[in-house]
Amino acid sequence: MCGIVGYIGHNKAIEKVISGLESLEYRGYDSAGIAYLNNNKINIIKEEGKIINLKNKLDLNINSNLAIGHTRWATHGEANKINAHPHQVGKITLVHNGIIENYEEIREKLINEGYKFKSETDSEVAAALIDYYYDKDILKAINKATKEFIGSYALGIIVENDSNLYAVRKTSPLIIGCGKDEYFIASDVPAILKYTNNYIALDDLEICVINDEIKIYNNLKEIKKEVQIYDSDESSITKGHFKHFMLKEIYEQPKVIKKTIESYFNGDINSLLTSFPKLNKYNKIHIVACGSAYHTGLIGKALIEKYADIKVEVYIASEYRYNKVFYDDKTLVILISQSGETADTLAALKKAKQDNIDTLAIVNVYQSSIAREAKYVIYTMAGIEVAVATTKAYSCQISILILITIYLAYKNNKLTKKEINNIYQDMLKLPDILNNLIKKDYTKIAKNIYKHNDIFFIGRGIDYYLSMEGSLKLKEISYINSVSYAAGELKHGTISLIDKNTPVIAISTDNKLYDKTISNIKETKARGAYNILISNIENNEFDNLILIPKFNELLTPLLSVIPLQLLAYEVAKLKDCDIDKPRNLAKSVTVE
Ligand code: AGP
Repeated sequence: MCGIVGYIGHNKAIEKVISGLESLEYRGYDSAGIAYLNNNKINIIKEEGKIINLKNKLDLNINSNLAIGHTRWATHGEANKINAHPHQVGKITLVHNGIIENYEEIREKLINEGYKFKSETDSEVAAALIDYYYDKDILKAINKATKEFIGSYALGIIVENDSNLYAVRKTSPLIIGCGKDEYFIASDVPAILKYTNNYIALDDLEICVINDEIKIYNNLKEIKKEVQIYDSDESSITKGHFKHFMLKEIYEQPKVIKKTIESYFNGDINSLLTSFPKLNKYNKIHIVACGSAYHTGLIGKALIEKYADIKVEVYIASEYRYNKVFYDDKTLVILISQSGETADTLAALKKAKQDNIDTLAIVNVYQSSIAREAKYVIYTMAGIEVAVATTKAYSCQISILILITIYLAYKNNKLTKKEINNIYQDMLKLPDILNNLIKKDYTKIAKNIYKHNDIFFIGRGIDYYLSMEGSLKLKEISYINSVSYAAGELKHGTISLIDKNTPVIAISTDNKLYDKTISNIKETKARGAYNILISNIENNEFDNLILIPKFNELLTPLLSVIPLQLLAYEVAKLKDCDIDKPRNLAKSVTVE
């Protein structure tokens, strides 16, 4: 949430910062701004809306070797030019990602000291406090101010009459990119990939001072940190021949699912037992996550309970933190997150840790906060996901949950080595099957539903959990009001909403529940609904059938989600929506 980028080096700083911000635009796009040093003077330019508005106001060729920039997802104060970053108070100019929770208190104190504020933001208060403590030593001032902040922050700072770039973080992510004779600060790796793969991950409260070299301080003492190499290139952050990142990422699924599975499992159960953390002792699992990651948790519950016979409870992270939860030393709390930075999930993780409960993070972003905080980590291998609506990370999370299911089922004597190897043989067939599903044409069905204001998704059991993802995907990118219901529950109230031609998308892949689900669809058909059935059983009684292959049940959720993703995509395209950057959303939700 909010993207920050800074540059110092021998090249054109404005151009580099804007290019970095463009790769981070998925983090927020309400307003954008830049501060750059030119002829020893700090200039600030801000614009409402997307980065392109800011770019149009800038001369990218201006001679500057030091700049900081920001793309905003508004938290404190509306998305206007005044609240846009950078904020300048006294000698301090900064960009901020995160939330300073005690900013009102600090603001009051500073007003009493004579400070005046222009914006409604907590970030301007942060700049003011550093300025307040700045006498001769800026490092001391940053150290003192950040100790006073409660909350989360990644800050990029430049200072009047000072040629250094400063950075500090707590909880919000921040990396330092190390190029040839040039350095970057950035909220995420995509911002630097065009220029370098080398980076340093800053830890909480470390302050970084950059000029011709990098110096990092912890509690004002200099420390040494290793430069790491990010294993990816620029192609992962460009659309290639695809119209949208979302479509590109849907097409990447066969490859990244394969990569995720093969990173841990080669068909021999021992490969899984040795590559995963030891999960033997747990007899109760809590899965905690938000949004789509929560939906994968529900799929995980259905699979683990069915195959491994272990009780799983799934919680929305923002609720978990404040609810009374029941666990013991045999409980494992699994946190699922693509970004690894989701504040609600991170808070839930901290709660479990405080209670001395073991935590396992399933995370896509290497060394993200959740990955670093959890006792155990299993990485999904989705690669960088740019579209705000998750697709490939969702599928990779399910892949890991399938592997966890196999692990636990084997340990509980519910699956034999031979059965496990058979599952692996089916896994090898996945890329072809998925590619065939991806290449199907979903536009005809999309054309029949895109003008509707309400769309229903229904299913039973695991298909209900999938329908929740289908519904979220659709509303998130097409802005159509859509809801998902357990198919059997409709008749207890919601069916009153079904009117002539209301689209009802039903998923039925669990063949034991097939007849029951079909009856529920017919109940909506009898009331005039326009029915789309996604199933692995041929049935032409409804308006549309999306037939998916009959396949290994454990792996079937990976198939069923493809039509849901592509239907949402095609509907949003017909509605001419901004598919990769849906309104009001951001990719990485670092506020609670
Ligand atoms: C999915 O399309 C959404 N953008 C959203 O629900 C997302 O899954 C959720 O915010 C969790 O994010 P995380 O996986 O990075 O924790």
